[in-house]
Amino acid sequence: MALVKIFVGTMYGGALDVAEQVQPLFEQAGYEVAIFDQPALADLLETPTDLALFCTSTTGSGDFPGNLTGMLRELQEVSPSLVELRYGLIALGDSSYVDSFCGAGRALDELLRGLGAVRLGERLEIDAMETVMADDAAIPWVETWIAEQQLGVA
Ligand SMILES: Cc1cc2nc3c(=O)[nH]c(=O)nc-3n(C[C@H](O)[C@H](O)[C@H](O)COP(=O)(O)O)c2cc1C
Repeated sequence: MALVKIFVGTMYGGALDVAEQVQPLFEQAGYEVAIFDQPALADLLETPTDLALFCTSTTGSGDFPGNLTGMLRELQEVSPSLVELRYGLIALGDSSYVDSFCGAGRALDELLRGLGAVRLGERLEIDAMETVMADDAAIPWVETWIAEQQLGVA
């Protein structure tokens, strides 16, 4: 069965909630889903990854949530080739942090692309100033993403 891995970066649980809410959409499209809320590089590299979804908030001033920093450091140090990886990215942020809005999601996107990974579609940026429940934006986006990128394997 095809596998989608969802990698979560969260401080307060919002991004993890998004991952759990979109899980059934991937299951309906024929995927087995693995959610990593304490991700390490090995989780990405050690088993074949048909598809990945990165879902991260931003903290501090454009900083990565603590649970994602280990994987991030490994990506920077090991610099693996990710040319086989197709991924999507959901960034949670708050536009009142004007200069660092969705800074972690944007930086992660740049890092992944620099390692050769191919992002499918545009990055989703969810602004807490506009969307109280991030799921309200994430669920329709994932539905559209699966359809437009023809990701269904059922
Ligand atoms: C202390 C703190 C710092 C934050 N810094 C930023 C930031 O620099 N840029 C941004 O876009 N959002 C920032 N945010 C907003 C969070 O990213 C946003 O509320 C997000 O939905 C939290 O998701 P989470 O529950 O998964 O951590 C910050 C929030 C807090 C509480």
